[in-house]
Amino acid sequence: MPGGIADGSSHSGRITVSSEREEMKNGNTSNPAGHRYGKVAVLMGGSSAERVISLETGRAVHAALCRRGVDAYALDAREDVIEQLLQGKFDRAFIALHGRGGEDGVIQGALETLAIPYTGSGVLGSALAMDKVRSKTIWQQQGLMTPVFIEVSSEQELHRAAEQIGLPLMVKPIHEGSSCGASKVAELSDIQSAWHTASQYDDGIMAEQWLTGREYTAAILGQEVLPLILLETPHAFYDYRAKYEVDSTRYICPCGLDTEREDEVRTVALQAFNAVGASGWGRVDLFVDEAGETSLIEVNTVPGMTGHSLVPMAAIQAGIEFDTLVLRILETSLEQRIEMEAATA
Ligand SMILES: Nc1ncnc2c1ncn2[C@@H]1O[C@H](COP(=O)(O)OP(=O)(O)OP(=O)(O)O)[C@@H](O)[C@H]1O
Ligand SMILES: [Mg+2]
Repeated sequence: MPGGIADGSSHSGRITVSSEREEMKNGNTSNPAGHRYGKVAVLMGGSSAERVISLETGRAVHAALCRRGVDAYALDAREDVIEQLLQGKFDRAFIALHGRGGEDGVIQGALETLAIPYTGSGVLGSALAMDKVRSKTIWQQQGLMTPVFIEVSSEQELHRAAEQIGLPLMVKPIHEGSSCGASKVAELSDIQSAWHTASQYDDGIMAEQWLTGREYTAAILGQEVLPLILLETPHAFYDYRAKYEVDSTRYICPCGLDTEREDEVRTVALQAFNAVGASGWGRVDLFVDEAGETSLIEVNTVPGMTGHSLVPMAAIQAGIEFDTLVLRILETSLEQRIEMEAATA
């Protein structure tokens, strides 16, 4: 039965998406092209710090797939995800999981083992992009600009890093998303709470030179970089509340850079994406300073796909509406099937 839960069981973690079923019944989904994808599991939720956002992403993706006639099922990717995938006999998976376990190569490896093609980056690209320190090391080796940073493993080391890099500083967990655990250290007295906040989320913590320019994000679809979005917030930085809770954040697209400059930044974003082995789709966060230099912050391999997310916003500017964007992302799993078949031929 298209558009419903995986097996109709009453498992507590599983998500029911009855409104999309109603849409199916209303005949809103008669696109025969949907059948070429077979039975699709939309993996969402999971147990990372970004679970709530992932559920939003997953529901939006699932609804879009159903509207386009795809036989899509919403799966909450908890401990029994492998069992659910095996029982459901799925042809492919749309990964709508953010953060650890879903965006870091772990679920990608499980899907490879089960020979289920999936959307987006593979194991290596996912794992590298999730690790901010290793991403930055690769960029430095390739001559791409990224702010100076020091990995720290204690509050004392954070003090030493502050002396070396200078203030202000950005302190963040190495493997986290949605700005969870991130804070600005403007004065030495902020160090203790910055350490405490970050260490609640991760064993790996980094201190990074504070960037002053303007913040942009570059959405990537295949090898196409969509129009840049300029982000403006009255907060000290684009923190969790600025991302999801308040309406004072401004998203400016077209971003206001002249075409030549924007193309240069887009080129750097794509280089950064490819450098960490990411593929299919994603988002590169970066700053551009007064001199026009691009500094790379991070790559997201499963960015948000909610109604207020950045990739859908950039796609609209490029003339790609949400449901088409979701199908284009699903198509990245078709490419992967070819690779899988080639590998076993
Ligand atoms: N070096 C820096 N200087 C100034 N601001 C920064 C710096 N690094 C990060 N920020 C701010 O913190 C935000 C979150 O940082 P970052 O993108 O690295 O974390 P994240 O938690 O992985 O985010 P996402 O939700 O995009 O996955 C950025 O969007 C930016 O506003
Ligand atoms: Mg980010």
